This record gives sequence, structure tokens and C-alpha cells, in this order.
Amino acid sequence: MEVKNLLVTGGCGFIGSNFVRYILSREDFSGRVINVDKLTYAGNPENLAGIEEAFPGRYVFLRVDICDAEAMEKIFSEFEIDAVCHFAAESHVDRSIKRPESFIQTNIVGTFNLLEAAKKAGDSFKLFHHISTDEVYGSLGPTGFFTEETPYRPNSPYSASKAASDHLVRAYHETYGLPTTISNCSNNYGPYQFPEKLIPLMILNALEGRPLPVYGDGKNVRDWLYVVDHCEAIWTIMKEGRRGDTYNVGGNCERENITIVELICDLLDEKFPCGTSRRSLITFVPDRPGHDRRYAIDFSKIRRELGWSPRESFESGLKKTINWYVENRAWTERVRSGEYQAWIKEHYG
Ligand code: NAD
Ligand code: TYD
Repeated sequence: MEVKNLLVTGGCGFIGSNFVRYILSREDFSGRVINVDKLTYAGNPENLAGIEEAFPGRYVFLRVDICDAEAMEKIFSEFEIDAVCHFAAESHVDRSIKRPESFIQTNIVGTFNLLEAAKKAGDSFKLFHHISTDEVYGSLGPTGFFTEETPYRPNSPYSASKAASDHLVRAYHETYGLPTTISNCSNNYGPYQFPEKLIPLMILNALEGRPLPVYGDGKNVRDWLYVVDHCEAIWTIMKEGRRGDTYNVGGNCERENITIVELICDLLDEKFPCGTSRRSLITFVPDRPGHDRRYAIDFSKIRRELGWSPRESFESGLKKTINWYVENRAWTERVRSGEYQAWIKEHYG
């Protein structure tokens, strides 16, 4: 598949920014990336600082809301978009519990607008790849795995909105023949993740001697994947995945939350001894409502059919991630304080 103008949505967020860097560095992609991002609290242009200089003529940034249908259509025709890699979403479960409205708008209506624009793009349009989550499948008991055949049972407003968007993508393939692929991935971690999610939040709080809030009994299980492995899986599916198909992507790395928090404490104690064990900062707090107990992905389809498997081990990925957050304290300060939002206002109005 030769893509000339790839529309990446949400390219200033955590996974999107890692993907833009990944794809532009690849020898098997010579096209241009058009990054459309609204720049919510989670989107920071600084995540792609220097990218235009590193890849001259191959990167365009547009601050646009995917909920603006007219703007989306205009971008498709003006930039002759021939493929889409759709990351833009409201992504944090706790926020979706408190204020679900923007999740419905961005995740469902925004995806619908993009599908409509792609449908109208005509025969030159090659692929709509939709990034989704394993959370659409609901919660597992102590055994078993999510496969591509597992029925959808989303439990949070976030996962319900992602489930709705997955169904729309599938329907556009079945009804209109739009070339689509979907990936349902487990929890990602790595550089540039907004420090409201478990791993970066715990790293920063532990560094600052603040409480480490663990929900419930801390024994909920997630299947962790290093973000660059996810980027590689996405590109593999885009190039070789069967159109109309879904692929599960996972890390083969189930961990209880408490184990991760303890490991972060121990790794930080080793690197920056502070006289006491940071484990003493662990504070059990009331559970998240509707908290899914366990996620675990069976990724044998993508391994068997496309030859993808995760490369990074959890221990080395976590060390890299800790080092990144330690070395990028200015970034973490700016995203947490919202300081960069003032910069965005100045530059984009
Ligand atoms: P993120 O919250 O870090 O980034 C989301 C990006 O989308 C931000 O840059 C934000 O500004 C942008 N955005 C939000 N609303 C927008 C709108 N209306 N118009 C244009 N841009 C908008 O999220 P992430 O963790 O990078 O997740 C990216 C995608 O991957 C999401 O679709 C998410 O559901 C999916 N996913 C995430 C994980 C994970 O562990 N983080 C796992 C599986 C799937
Ligand atoms: P999170 O990073 O929010 O991802 P998701 O909810 O999409 O899986 O949370 C990962 C796990 O960590 C989840 O079981 C909830 C738990 N958690 C805590 O125990 N404390 C926290 O402060 C956060 C943010 C999450």
C-alpha cells in the first residue's frame, strides 16, 4: 500500500505523537503526515517538537476538531487524503465517569464525521485504520483472554463510546465497502503519556513524595504494551491487514496494579534513594465505579497472520519510561500545570 497523504488524528496525544515519529522514520513510508488535533488538555504540540525540521515537507499540523464535519471534508479534498489513522479520542476512564459528554461527541460523532469524509473521498481512498481498545470487551474473570470473537460488553462511558465507534467503522465497511481495519489494543505505557494514567501518575507522585492512590484492593489486572510496539502493530495492520478485519494487540504482560506501583517504587528507590521505601506512599482509595477486574489479550491472530509480536519486555520498557519522566520534568510540569495551554492560546487563538 503506497500512501501519499496520511491523515493522523490525535497526533499530539500520547500514542499519536509516538506514531507520527515512528511512521516518518520508516523507510517503507515516503508520504506526508497531516496531523489533525484539537489540542485538548491531552494534546500538546510540544510532543512533536522538531518534527517539521527533521522531515522537511512531510509534516503538516492543523488544529481542528474532528467534530467539525465541514472542516473534515475540506481537509480531505485540500490535502488529497488517501489514508487515515484515527487516534483522536477522549481517552481517560475516570474523566468519562465524571463528564461523559465529550466522549460521546469526539469518540462517536467525530469518528462518524471522518467516516463520512472518507466515504466521499472516492476510489483513490485506500484505508481507514481505527485505533481502539480492549476495554470494549468488558471485564474478564481470573482466566481466559479476549479474542476478536469476544462479544462487546463495555462497562464505562469511555469504553461504550469506543465500542460505538468500532461498530460504525465496521458498518462503513459492510455497507459502503470502505476499506477499513480496526485494532483493539491493551493498556499502553511509555514516553509522552499524560500523567493522569496509572504509570506516569505513579512515577511523578513517587518522585515528589506524594500519596500513590491505588483503587480498591489493587488487584485489578491490565495487559501492558510498550507504546512503540503498538505503533509497529498499527503500521503492520495498515500495510498487510485484511480490509474489514479487526486485530487484537496485546503485550502478553498481565500485571496487577499493586505489583506495578510497588515496582515503580523499588526502581525509583534504587535510582534515587530517599532514606525510606517509597512503598510507604501507597494509599488504597475507594474503587472506581464499574472498575473492570481483568483485561488480557489473545493476540494470536496478528502474530499468526501478520507476524507481529511485542518486542519490549515490561521491565526494560518500564525502566525506559521512568528515565524519560525523570529527564523530562519540564514537560511534565507544563502539561500538569496547563502552562502549555496558554502557549496554544497565543499561537492558535
Ligand atoms: P490521549 O488522550 O493521550 O490523546 C488523544 C489526542 O486526541 C489528544 O492529542 C487530543 O488533543 C486529541 N483530541 C481529542 N479530542 C479531539 C477532537 N475532538 N478533535 C481532534 N483531536 C482531538 O490518548 P492516547 O492514550 O494517545 O490514545 C489514542 C487512541 O488510542 C485513542 O483512540 C484511545 O482510545 C486508543 N487506545 C489507547 C490506549 C492507552 O492505553 N492509552 C490503549 C488502547 C487504545
Ligand atoms: P488507567 O491508567 O486509568 O487505564 P484504564 O482505566 O484505561 O485501564 O488505569 C489503569 C489501572 O490502574 C486501572 O485498573 C485503574 C488503576 N488506577 C489506580 O489504581 N489508581 C490511579 O490513580 C489510576 C489513574 C488508575
